[in-house]
Amino acid sequence: MRISWETLWHNIHDCQACGLYATCRGKVMGQGDWHAPLMLIGEAPGEQEDRQGLAFVGPAGQLLTRMLEAINLPRERVYICNVLKCRPPGNRPPTPEEAAACLKHLRAQVALVRPKVILLLGATAVRAVLGPQERITRCRGQWRDLKGVQVLATYHPSALLRDPAKKPEAWSDLKRLRACLCERELYPDLIREDEA
Ligand code: URA
Repeated sequence: MRISWETLWHNIHDCQACGLYATCRGKVMGQGDWHAPLMLIGEAPGEQEDRQGLAFVGPAGQLLTRMLEAINLPRERVYICNVLKCRPPGNRPPTPEEAAACLKHLRAQVALVRPKVILLLGATAVRAVLGPQERITRCRGQWRDLKGVQVLATYHPSALLRDPAKKPEAWSDLKRLRACLCERELYPDLIREDEA
């Protein structure tokens, strides 16, 4: 059964399924278009996200905004969230147990948005959505079908900030994404064949 956005918000805000609720400033549910054909899933809130209560608003988020703009997508037209809704202290990578504890919220979000296409940003999102055996280095740039939803993985923007040599691969992933959105006419007002 699909829960409502309001119930999801309460579930996330009341959640104590792992210890991170005790150290974060607040929960970060995610934001954007609730009916977006494209959903983006990152790892976990960082410092700025924890302060502002919004996903991807720090340096990685600013890069993400520019990446979306490069394929003519304003970020308000997609739905953006993270696997984890609480910031791990000092931005350490989340443990598999923390990610597993948060998965029910992500599943509820996917059920509400019902995206046609999902872009996974980095290793944590890849493992949470595609399975713990999957590796970003092996599956990035390849389309998967997950119960009728097309799923593509690419590098996390933080990884691109740390290692700009990865940017050409990320750009080729973005072009693949744009081609899919164009072919399926998911943003016909923004992404057309003559530009893709
Ligand atoms: N990194 C993420 O994975 N998510 C954010 O919201 C910010 C940084």
